[in-house]
Amino acid sequence: MAYQNIYVDREGPLAIITVNRPKSLNALNSQTLRELTQAVRDNADQRALILTGAGDKAFVAGADISEMAPMTPWSAREFSELGHVVTALLEDIPCATIAAVNGYALGGGLELAVACDMIFASENARLGLPEVSLGVTPGFGGTQRLVRLVGKLRAKEMIFTAEMIDARTALDIGLVNAVLPPDRLLAHCKQVAEKIATRGPLAVARAKRLVERGYDMPLRAANRQEAESFALLFDTEDRREGMRAFIEKRSPRFTGK
Ligand code: CAA
Repeated sequence: MAYQNIYVDREGPLAIITVNRPKSLNALNSQTLRELTQAVRDNADQRALILTGAGDKAFVAGADISEMAPMTPWSAREFSELGHVVTALLEDIPCATIAAVNGYALGGGLELAVACDMIFASENARLGLPEVSLGVTPGFGGTQRLVRLVGKLRAKEMIFTAEMIDARTALDIGLVNAVLPPDRLLAHCKQVAEKIATRGPLAVARAKRLVERGYDMPLRAANRQEAESFALLFDTEDRREGMRAFIEKRSPRFTGK
């Protein structure tokens, strides 16, 4: 698929997906959501994906308001589903996903970020769910994923007031992993991604699935899944290699088998 609104750079085991509509602060229209879905799917076998926005002002300033303005309830439903597809995909793929929030992450932009496994923000980032100021609710999972990250009280305050918070506040409430100077953000995300890429790929993929699926399960059932995954991994070459390397005091050479 030839992309118009995003670009993808592959660097060894990493893929960097950049939303590239800087004139509208990288707002997500349907075409961009489709392209993102395709790019995430096409790069799911990389070890890590980094999502970011073009320019120095915005990660993604939300769903595209000019496309949404004339929508009917039916087309709005379809549009919302497009956002749900890409955010669910980010959680489902085996590789790690990192949002490099390099400016505004608003509405659908924040919803994209909170579907990633980690969020790193630049000092100038501003995050929020301003949808109620447009007379709608968040539509790409914001009412659900934000609550799970920061708790009901803070999520409701952000959603009901539609106010943005700065990167430091986002760090304080556990909405981002770390805050970096703008010129260090992408390098930091790559460092984290490269570290993940040195670890056992099957183990990282299993760990991701356990966290994602286990979150909404009763603790006992989730722990049973963990025990099963732990046991299954004992039958892999990566597990043998990882433990052998430790004993032989060398770095492991994982093959994903
Ligand atoms: N959709 C469409 N265009 C957008 C946009 C959006 N979400 N956000 C910004 N733009 C456009 C602006 O219209 C403007 O275009 P023009 O130059 O053609 O006028 C351009 O990007 C630059 O924006 P501003 O001039 O407004 O820049 P600013 O620095 O003054 O303000 C801002 C920046 C505070 C982020 C402001 O642009 C803004 O409030 N944007 C809208 C944010 C928003 O409400 N997002 C949520 C959308 S709803 C949603 O996401 C629903 C969902 O959950 C699915």
